[in-house]
Amino acid sequence: MAGKRLYIETMGCQMNVLDSELVVGQLLGKGFSLTNEMTTADLVLLNTCSVRDHAEAKALSRLGSLKKPKNANPDMIVGVIGCMAERDPDGITLKMPHVDLICGPGELNKIPAMIDEIEETRERSVALSQSLSRRSTPLERANEYDSVEALDLSRSAGIDGNPLQAYVRVQRGCDKFCTFCVVPFTRGAERSRPPQLIVDECRMLVDRGVKEITLLGQTVNSYVNQDDGKAVRFAELLERIDAIAGLERLRFVTSYPGDFTDDIFHAMRDLRTACEYLHLPVQSGSDPVLKRMRRQYSVGQYIDLVDKARDIVPGITLASDFIVGFCGETDEEHAESLKLIERCTFKNIFVFKYSERPGTVAAKRVTDDVPDDVKRRRNMEMLQVQENIAIQTNRGLIGQTVQVLVEGYSKRAIKAQVAETERGQEISSEVTGQLVGRTRTDRIVVFSGETDLVGRLIDVQISGATALTLHGEVAGASGSSCGTGGLVSINVS
Ligand code: SAH
Ligand code: F3S
Repeated sequence: MAGKRLYIETMGCQMNVLDSELVVGQLLGKGFSLTNEMTTADLVLLNTCSVRDHAEAKALSRLGSLKKPKNANPDMIVGVIGCMAERDPDGITLKMPHVDLICGPGELNKIPAMIDEIEETRERSVALSQSLSRRSTPLERANEYDSVEALDLSRSAGIDGNPLQAYVRVQRGCDKFCTFCVVPFTRGAERSRPPQLIVDECRMLVDRGVKEITLLGQTVNSYVNQDDGKAVRFAELLERIDAIAGLERLRFVTSYPGDFTDDIFHAMRDLRTACEYLHLPVQSGSDPVLKRMRRQYSVGQYIDLVDKARDIVPGITLASDFIVGFCGETDEEHAESLKLIERCTFKNIFVFKYSERPGTVAAKRVTDDVPDDVKRRRNMEMLQVQENIAIQTNRGLIGQTVQVLVEGYSKRAIKAQVAETERGQEISSEVTGQLVGRTRTDRIVVFSGETDLVGRLIDVQISGATALTLHGEVAGASGSSCGTGGLVSINVS
């Protein structure tokens, strides 16, 4: 495979970003190099998402655009990996016969061998977990695939866009089977990785200069793994990672409200690195809707949890996910969700219009009966309510000084920079000076500063606020630079 060029595009969640990183690592180890040119690559991989129909439609459209380049160069290998590959391999081959490789998210370690096979036979190669993943023993499946060597290789190539931050998987799959969700079908049963593997991986990343680690799992707080005959739970895992010298910040996503235990709040309060931020998707503020979604908690229990988080962890911020227009959702039920948003004062929320997914309980048993224009209206209403709340809370921060990990240039500055360069103009220092960073509570802060601040923990005094962004001025540095190198972006859409 030496001398061949790989183009990879990643859709969907952070788990996919990490999976792509691992796939790239394996392929760099086999002699591939990365390219940003899709149409002239030797191998094109699309890492896909199935959570909503829209994401799948987008993947199909990208695949469609590969027909011509593949015709021009029949040796090009086109691969679909990730959740859509697992969910609908037949649909993909039917609609996109030029696809050579189909690989589910549990089988990604097979990709190098699959490529060898395709080059030899010119036949399509398919690797799926399907029901198998539900039959394997939890430990077998938990150890699969994540390899420190692959991670090391891809990170040294700088593909993930930010050498300061890294994702580490603690868990695969999900056992909750919320009625709307396709994830248990595409990613299989919940299995937690051994704690020692996770801690070793975190240490390796910190040795390479990573300052902030985000632990990934579908329901991270239900993490449990046997270590020397003793069950290690999530709070203890946080404690073990917190002991790594040089790590500055530890985050985790996503938590499941039904399983949240106090020891995790205590860990968030007491551990040096644990950030005061919690993503706690609620999905709806109506008990009957939660029941239809099979979320296994009530609105009252969710509110109690939010209150407890604020009691135990000073300054904590909360984010949430909502689905609008789930089967049978009435205006009254939607109004209950708006009420919950008012009650909880989230830092931000992610709102999704319900999208029926084939194979789920909801698709089989209930009707997707809320019209799209109603879904759209409810979506906008929710965002409007949240925006008003977020502006109020963010304005309350004006005048305060917050600690920020400087991540790089702000998006606006990058856009302006590209536009100026394309016009052949010199980049003004006013534009390049717009840096962006994040507080421990996951608030985005934009401020003016020099490039050498990137990678450092600094204090910023807040002088302005919108719903999603704070603006401020540098007040002082509280950490050392860690040499960020060039920021090369992976193709995430
Ligand atoms: N625990 C996972 C959830 C994965 S899906 C996590 O890591 O975030 C992410 C979000 O997508 C869910 O919280 C839910 O709000 C939304 N979602 C899932 N299935 C959906 C569907 N069928 N239609 C619309 N939104 C959906
Ligand atoms: Fe999906 Fe519910 Fe699991 S949203 S990922 S089935 S917790």
